[in-house]
Amino acid sequence: MNILLIGSGGREHALAWKMARSPLTSQLFIAPGNGGTGAVGENVVLDVANHAAVVNFCKLLKVDLVVVGPEAPLVAGLADDLRAADILTFGPGKVAAQLEGSKAFTKALCDEMKIPTAGYGRFADKQSALDYVRAEGAPIVIKADGLAAGKGVTVALELAEAEAAIEDCFSGAFGAAGAEVVVEEFLEGEEASVFAICDGERFITLATAQDHKRAFDGDEGPNTGGMGAYSPAPVMTPELVAQTEREILEPTVCGMAARGTPFQGVLYAGLMLTADGPKLIEYNTRFGDPECQVLMMRLTSDLVPLLKAAAEGDLRDAAVAWSDDVALTVVMAAEGYPGAYEKGSRIGNLDADFGDDVQVFHAGTEKRGADMLANGGRVLNVTARGASVREAQQRAYAAVDKIDWPDGFCRRDIGWRAIARES
Ligand code: AMP
Ligand code: GLY
Repeated sequence: MNILLIGSGGREHALAWKMARSPLTSQLFIAPGNGGTGAVGENVVLDVANHAAVVNFCKLLKVDLVVVGPEAPLVAGLADDLRAADILTFGPGKVAAQLEGSKAFTKALCDEMKIPTAGYGRFADKQSALDYVRAEGAPIVIKADGLAAGKGVTVALELAEAEAAIEDCFSGAFGAAGAEVVVEEFLEGEEASVFAICDGERFITLATAQDHKRAFDGDEGPNTGGMGAYSPAPVMTPELVAQTEREILEPTVCGMAARGTPFQGVLYAGLMLTADGPKLIEYNTRFGDPECQVLMMRLTSDLVPLLKAAAEGDLRDAAVAWSDDVALTVVMAAEGYPGAYEKGSRIGNLDADFGDDVQVFHAGTEKRGADMLANGGRVLNVTARGASVREAQQRAYAAVDKIDWPDGFCRRDIGWRAIARES
């Protein structure tokens, strides 16, 4: 099969690496890809926002399957336009992608299907939102409705913070994404993520994972896209996974199908494990980044037939198998991230012998001649397997220490919660 993968992050390098190993893959194109994906497939220059251009590319190059990595093209309806041109595509259409694209959409589905989630109010005007938080009091959570690159959420411990966040949203800090605001009850507990592949009617639950959203050690500093992750998440017991399937995933897939907008693609449930059981914090409609990297490291079965079966709407015969190993990934980011950072610094020693249990997935890199240059905020995902979280962590940091990149930084404590549980 010829496959076109859309995206340029560490998630896409991990997906490309895994798909390239499938006996079913003949040609693998990545648009636009990064400095690492060129080693496992062919990076192509394609304007992904121009859906007609993507359709043309697929016809010309005889692409049999398109896999969409990030959320923006899904929310923009790329999958709909590809399917309308009879091109098999893995990923939800525009309406189903609203599960990620609109917090209010997801909350309404939770109401309809009685899915456990935080209590909330939604507001299209500032005064009503302010009145509501003053009545509820802090702690409370303020969310811009639309896609805000992970920056639209304020967990306000004080009322003044909540008021400031509402002011920000309605003064246009998040553009159109903040035109409506969701105010949520503050949930207490530990967070974990569950991933499922859906075909519109059925789903297969993948492994669990936990990421580290804060920039610095000890979960300090600003929120980021994710500074590291590991899988499985030991806090997610088989009982909690079963409860999540029953109370959250199943009613979501059923509810979307019943509405006539079946969900096909990756359903990524961000959960809070509260004293009353798992509650849905948010959905994403794609693989997590960097959670995907640890999932791909543990997946022993072939990814291509799985994504193809989901895209064809029939997962009945699909199966997934996982290594018992733990996988852990450390994100190396450019100094300054998630704030302003420089691009263009050279990364050395990437061809070192890291061992069989390590993969260095690229995110924001660019290959220029013989040099690998940093070209983004999150730059490398150093990913290792091990018999325990501790072993995977040791292997990952041993590899990090071999990489010569003075302009980068990483957290040194990825996996700390799980390691504390191990000992
Ligand atoms: P989201 O973008 O909705 O995942 O929110 C970003 C982060 O804010 C989550 O990963 C949580 O750490 C936190 N968060 C979101 N909603 C809540 C909530 N209702 N209660 C407590 N923390 C929350
Ligand atoms: N790592 C969080 C995300 O992909 O949204």
